[in-house]
Amino acid sequence: MSAQAPQKRLYIKTYGCQMNVYDSERMADILAPLGYAMSPTPQGADLVVLNTCHIREKATEKVYSELGQIRLLKLETQAAGGTMTIVVAGCVAQAEGEEIMRRQPAVDLVVGPQAYHQLPELIARTHRARGERLATDFAAEAKFDALPTERRPTGVTAFLTVQEGCDKFCTFCVVPYTRGGEWSRPADAIEAEARGLAEQGVRELTLLGQNVNAYAGEGGLAALVRRLAAIPGLDRIRYTTSHPRDMDDALIAAHAEVDALMPYLHLPVQSGSDRILKAMNRAHTADSYLRLIGRIRASRPDIAISGDFIVGFPGERDADFEATLQLVGDVDYATAFTFKYSRRPGTPAAALPGQVDEAVKDERLARLNDLINAQARAFNTRQTGRTLPVLFERRGRHEGQLIGRSPYLQAVHVTAPDRLIGQIVPVHIDGAARMSLAGSLVPTRELEAV
Ligand code: SAH
Ligand code: SF4
Ligand code: F3S
Repeated sequence: MSAQAPQKRLYIKTYGCQMNVYDSERMADILAPLGYAMSPTPQGADLVVLNTCHIREKATEKVYSELGQIRLLKLETQAAGGTMTIVVAGCVAQAEGEEIMRRQPAVDLVVGPQAYHQLPELIARTHRARGERLATDFAAEAKFDALPTERRPTGVTAFLTVQEGCDKFCTFCVVPYTRGGEWSRPADAIEAEARGLAEQGVRELTLLGQNVNAYAGEGGLAALVRRLAAIPGLDRIRYTTSHPRDMDDALIAAHAEVDALMPYLHLPVQSGSDRILKAMNRAHTADSYLRLIGRIRASRPDIAISGDFIVGFPGERDADFEATLQLVGDVDYATAFTFKYSRRPGTPAAALPGQVDEAVKDERLARLNDLINAQARAFNTRQTGRTLPVLFERRGRHEGQLIGRSPYLQAVHVTAPDRLIGQIVPVHIDGAARMSLAGSLVPTRELEAV
């Protein structure tokens, strides 16, 4: 008989970007051998991890209010004679380590994004009540070396972090401070992880990095994509997030030549005003961005372009905002994420004069959203009548319905049997909304005729 550790319950709540989603999965992987099994709620959990995001003020404040709730659960657990260990991980942990422990003494441990591989040891030490409570080293390499190579994917799509950190220092952004400098994982380790996932049924892989197209392994991201596309079973590859500065010719060519590379590109521009782009330290102009989009579309004409925008950056005048609307009009996005500028302590833009009124930000955000929503709806509507290959991922909300993704990352709702989950199937697109498509299975006889 094997001496198995008793089951303990682990609750992880994830905030922020997809890189945090990946990190949360890896935290679960590294804690599983210690007997921790995932719990869907924090009630009665032995270990609670909040994997946090620092990008905007609201994201950070959410963490403190959640911690207030978790503290009450911890007190209940203690009153019943049990223990609950509370860990704050992620970007707030990195940026505000000491402050977190001061503001919420119920927190046992604070672990930054490059230090979570130390969790088993840190937790053991905490339990022996002589622990260091703050681990915020910056050695991404040590982390990946320490993580288990095996992963247990939960579906047919998976994230895989290939690059971390940022050297760009956009003046509004905390990421270079919370994630450290740019670092790329060796291609061999990435390929091994990807093969393991494919062997367990993963069909679509999204390569992650704060600046994923700055991937610095030999041949850059394009070579990595080609290498992964050769893995049997991996039919779809995506990557996010990219910086316009690092979009090289090889990667643009890969979009024309590699079938597995999906026609979707998230390429944030932030603003359409050169004056604001300069103040943001973005190193591109509206015109250079438009020319880049032109080259990408020449390579892959049907590619869905998405982006990020910030309205109300310090000093943004009406004319600057109009330039943003103009650029959005010129690009014609498939979708985009829009944000009101949030002043982040310690970043250069926080100290700039000309901070914009909240009401003005609200108004600009609403106008920008209207335009982008109209473009998204139009992009989706253009798919109606087409037959698209859809990778079915899971059951939908309605009986007998499945949800999958089109090559353009649109959610597609289809009446289809469960056995098609994990399959890529031709679907006739019948209708479109702003966020999703409705489709129907193409009868086999019709397919044979094609
Ligand atoms: N590396 C990515 C972005 C990561 S942060 C890139 O450069 O594209 C994700 C998005 O959050 C950014 O693109 C930006 O639009 C937004 N963001 C970052 N800092 C912000 C701030 N201080 N206020 C509002 N939005 C912000
Ligand atoms: Fe932040 Fe700019 Fe780096 Fe993106 S490129 S993570 S916006 S500093
Ligand atoms: Fe947030 Fe950190 Fe990602 S600040 S957006 S969780 S890199």
